[in-house]
Amino acid sequence: MAYQKVANTNDLPTGRGLCVQVDGIDIGLFRVGEKIYAMENRCPHADDPLSEGTLEGTIVTCRAHGWQFDVRTGFRPEDGDGFPIPRFKVRTTGNTIEIDLQSSPDENR
Ligand code: FES
Repeated sequence: MAYQKVANTNDLPTGRGLCVQVDGIDIGLFRVGEKIYAMENRCPHADDPLSEGTLEGTIVTCRAHGWQFDVRTGFRPEDGDGFPIPRFKVRTTGNTIEIDLQSSPDENR
């Protein structure tokens, strides 16, 4: 487990995500209430950055062609059996947001 500082909570906008780069990978950070989610920032349709989409509740809508993804799971809401966007564990310490690129939120380690 190797958490890296990526942003401050004050950096996160409302209604869309924030792109940060870690080890050459673009990561989209999304705030839903008090919780922050991290997933690869690349729409699988045609690579548009999902952080530039519209975030409503837990659903981000890609600005390019309207595909939607649940930031909690990485899945399209209507296609829970498809391939999810890779997600990463997030933790906050005070205002500092850290993510662990080595682990998914689904893992218990
Ligand atoms: S690039 Fe995201 S919907 Fe087309």
